[in-house]
Amino acid sequence: MIPQWIIEKKRDGQGLTGDEIREFVEGYTRGDIPDYQMAAFAMAVFFRGMSEDETAILTDAMMRSGDILDTSAIPLPKVDKHSTGGVGDKISLPLAPLLAACGVAVPMISGRGLGITGGTLDKLESIPGFNVRLPEEQFLAVLRDVGCAMSGQTARLAPADRKLYALRDVTATVPSVPLIVSSILSKKLAEGVDHLVLDVKCGRGAFMKTPESARELAGALVRTARAMGKSVRALVTDMNQPLGRAAGNALEIVESVEVLLGRGPADVELLTLTLGAELLQMAGVAASPAEAVDRLREAIRSGAAMAKFRAMVRAQGGDAEALDDFNRLPAASIQAPLAAPTTGWIGGVDAERVGRACVVLGAGRTRTEDRVDPAVGVSGLAKIGERVEKGRILAVVHANDEGRLAEAKRLLSGAFIFSDRPVEPPALIIERIA
Ligand code: URA
Repeated sequence: MIPQWIIEKKRDGQGLTGDEIREFVEGYTRGDIPDYQMAAFAMAVFFRGMSEDETAILTDAMMRSGDILDTSAIPLPKVDKHSTGGVGDKISLPLAPLLAACGVAVPMISGRGLGITGGTLDKLESIPGFNVRLPEEQFLAVLRDVGCAMSGQTARLAPADRKLYALRDVTATVPSVPLIVSSILSKKLAEGVDHLVLDVKCGRGAFMKTPESARELAGALVRTARAMGKSVRALVTDMNQPLGRAAGNALEIVESVEVLLGRGPADVELLTLTLGAELLQMAGVAASPAEAVDRLREAIRSGAAMAKFRAMVRAQGGDAEALDDFNRLPAASIQAPLAAPTTGWIGGVDAERVGRACVVLGAGRTRTEDRVDPAVGVSGLAKIGERVEKGRILAVVHANDEGRLAEAKRLLSGAFIFSDRPVEPPALIIERIA
């Protein structure tokens, strides 16, 4: 195979054969095809696109570039959820133990935050001692013993994606539907799950800014996974305002625990239950949406879901007592309220600005090698539709540095839009693709 002939074919808008795609991915993974040829290939795909068949073959080749987790020894349906990322999106944290408490296994390989979108691994690491670098055998042992395990991508899981994603990041080839689809699905399907639900975020705080682009991505993800014989559904959900009332690593652990105790913010609870109900039905554990939601609610009410979360934290070396005593979690030295400049209804909370404020505070990273500050972020965020009196608190900023605090407050004060008449909160769930 001559790599430049394959690049040329795609550049000229011709379809590629399965063998050509596979050989290209295999050659790149081995190091025989250099970054500059893969970069040219990615740019050709960016401009010319790929058919559904080509996308499915690319995804399969990337998934097979490393190990596929063998979860067959666990005699339960294996399920997972993937989100395209947003501000305050902590759904994975309550969802995994909640599903485990309902009799399915959740092998969740998660990522770190980059830019304004937070990452599950950074949030989990704010629990003292929690290990997100489990070797495969230990990951499978936690999964078997607890029912859920959450860890980072190992070097052996979809290595083609690991290399290609870093390359796309620096060659302006990230926003291409076939490349995003193959990147997301190659990692998730290498986890060895039977059923997957995708939360495709849309809006100011998301990768996909418009409902149309989010629908296009969600549809392509579902069709590609189906073409590979996998059971997948997707929701398109709103990310114009942050999810919940907290953004920041330890602060989101607190909010996740609140959800598992049945007193979390309404939007986080709704999305957790909706995604969970999809998976319980797909796994055949519940026959209808109502039955699935009842089971999930009962797991919260009985304390079973919280018990699973404690057990997973303990099994992964974390301080499980921190889930009951939040004083054991990292706390910022400064907690500064942001006061409402006027009286009115909240008409908008710009998730992008809130996300940027969190990055400025140190909760997120601008380069993959940056370290995050687990304690900082915002809590008590006002939500669209709420009425606020002048001088009341719109948010509490948690900071460890006066200069960063000032910059974060400046960003946050521009995030809230006031209306002089009542505002209907936007629908959280925009579309379901099943
Ligand atoms: N997330 C991924 O894992 N890959 C992409 O290409 C985009 C988002």
